[in-house]
Amino acid sequence: MSLSVKHLLGIKELNVQDIEKIFRTADNFKQVLQRPIKKVPSLRDTTIANVFFENSTRTRISFELAEKRLSADTINFSASGSSVSKGETLVDTVNNILAMKVDMVVMRHSASGAPWFLARHIDASIVNAGDGTNEHPTQALLDAYSIREQLGTLSGKRIAIIGDIMHSRVALSNIFCLQKLGAEIMVAGPPTLIPKHIRDQGVKISYDVRKALEWAEVANVLRIQLERQSKPLFSTLREYALYYGINKSMLDGLQKEMIIMHPGPINRGVELSSDAADSGQSIILEQVQNGVAVRMAVLYLLSGKAESVEAG
Ligand code: CP
Repeated sequence: MSLSVKHLLGIKELNVQDIEKIFRTADNFKQVLQRPIKKVPSLRDTTIANVFFENSTRTRISFELAEKRLSADTINFSASGSSVSKGETLVDTVNNILAMKVDMVVMRHSASGAPWFLARHIDASIVNAGDGTNEHPTQALLDAYSIREQLGTLSGKRIAIIGDIMHSRVALSNIFCLQKLGAEIMVAGPPTLIPKHIRDQGVKISYDVRKALEWAEVANVLRIQLERQSKPLFSTLREYALYYGINKSMLDGLQKEMIIMHPGPINRGVELSSDAADSGQSIILEQVQNGVAVRMAVLYLLSGKAESVEAG
């Protein structure tokens, strides 16, 4: 019942059996989350540190809730207000937390590769909650899980990933995960936000969002990450919204059912209008809901306690 990896650093390291095992376990935990008592004792004697060196709303709350639903003890660390400002290193910070008998570490960091670096220096299992512009594996798992829930399978499905591909860890993890599960991927957005190396990942590329929507069954729309742009890559947000933003009238014009996703946080009126984000085609809040079950599954399977699924 365990995974082929000790850590969840990136989707790249997972095999298809790992992903399917996570989904099956998440199916069980999703049933637990529908019950009046939404809790199992699976990680009763496990302590998990949520170590966030970068801001987060969804991922942090989702992991904390997943840990509580599994009966784990949790501690939360934020870089702001910590001794990081006094010059303490990442390894020293985490080793001090682990010295207090912590079993697993969930980490978000602004530096790409930080979880791989940490994995070489500590014994505890690490779950990457997003590293720089590299990977966000649990987001990709919950996205793929949510598509599977809607369409039954990923195999042969056409998924468009639209927006700021350049700065998005969600894009790369989604590409790895969806391709492993047999989906076809197109990335779309302005040429300045689509890195040349993405072609090597075997994806289709379009600079025309409307064409991408016509091709796809699912559109995963990404946030414009202005905070990661050292110099402007398009003239104004208004212009971005005009040429690359998705709104309800565009979706209605397609005259087909399609699923709209977004990992959050949304820049409403920029990459996605409110009438599209809140439409019946949007599964954005289902993604958030599924995130708890998927993260429960990841923590449980990495904990080494997955002898039997107690959710049944
Ligand atoms: N989707 C996501 O990673 O959101 P947060 O940055 O709020 O965690």
